[in-house]
Amino acid sequence: MTTVTTNESVLSDALTAPVSEVESHMARIIDERALPSNLDEAVRYAALAGGKRLRPLLVIHSCAAVGGELEHCLPSACAVEMIHAFSLVHDDLPALDNDDLRRGRPTLHVAYTEAMAILAGDALMSIAFQAIGDDRHEPATAGLLLRELATGTTDMIAGQVYDTLGGFPDDLTEEQRLRLVHGNKTGALIQASCRMGAISGMLGAKHRLDSAMLARITEYAEAIGLMFQVVDDLLDVEQTTEHLGKRASKDEDAGKLTYPGVLGVEGSRAIVKELENKALQAIAPFDKPAEPLRQICRYLATRTR
Ligand code: IPE
Ligand code: IPE
Ligand code: MG
Ligand code: MG
Ligand code: MG
Repeated sequence: MTTVTTNESVLSDALTAPVSEVESHMARIIDERALPSNLDEAVRYAALAGGKRLRPLLVIHSCAAVGGELEHCLPSACAVEMIHAFSLVHDDLPALDNDDLRRGRPTLHVAYTEAMAILAGDALMSIAFQAIGDDRHEPATAGLLLRELATGTTDMIAGQVYDTLGGFPDDLTEEQRLRLVHGNKTGALIQASCRMGAISGMLGAKHRLDSAMLARITEYAEAIGLMFQVVDDLLDVEQTTEHLGKRASKDEDAGKLTYPGVLGVEGSRAIVKELENKALQAIAPFDKPAEPLRQICRYLATRTR
């Protein structure tokens, strides 16, 4: 089934304004590494062209929701986007999803060879960690942020293994397996994004962690993280390749475990609604500073690409 949506769901300009700063900071971080020119070109191809930049926006608006400023969380915003870019490059490899189109362009291995895609992905991962070592953080803050980023990355990789190779614990229902795949391959990095934003904001602005606030941000992140992949699965079924800028209608042929595959389109939409409400509930006490997180949540429930 293919539905071309005319009623586009978008984030406001005010909400996405920090993206340009994130992109120029990522470019600076890559410059500083002085990579061999062919690796430099491939890394830029993967990290600096296109994408919704959702994860950096989650870092930035989670930071703002707890009273922090952009300067407190810019390294984290860049770092999560670099991990995400690395995950996409490897996800598209012939050994994983074998895709030839990403963000409206040939995938990295198609444009630059498979060896370069493997190595550029590796490089993006290590550069992401270096970005947090930025001297604007106190060492203790950097330590906490690095732990969050490492957890999100390891869990994402575990999720990719479940998705591609299986290895599930025994006795899980199909729905429990879905939650394990999606919560890890996609949810973990979204959770790291929100938590890193909140941690850098709290420590940067108030020099102390508020664990009750962090727990609420984490609950929000868990809900939108799972929702993000449920919607990604729905878009694979409902949208066109042209609209998405990546191949549509692939998951079923590839034998992927997906929400629409297991629960149907209507059942999956109901779960999206449930997760949207859960996320909004979690941050209800935050008042006005969390308004951008509410907008992002509504957008993620209705996005079409
Ligand atoms: C795609 O992520 C991969 C998933 C985790 C589902 P995005 O939909 O955020 O991709 P870009 O960054 O906008 O290209
Ligand atoms: C990707 O899930 C998750 C990660 C990249 C970690 P998908 O394989 O569904 O993402 P797309 O649809 O290729 O973007
Ligand atoms: Mg995949
Ligand atoms: Mg894929
Ligand atoms: Mg997908």
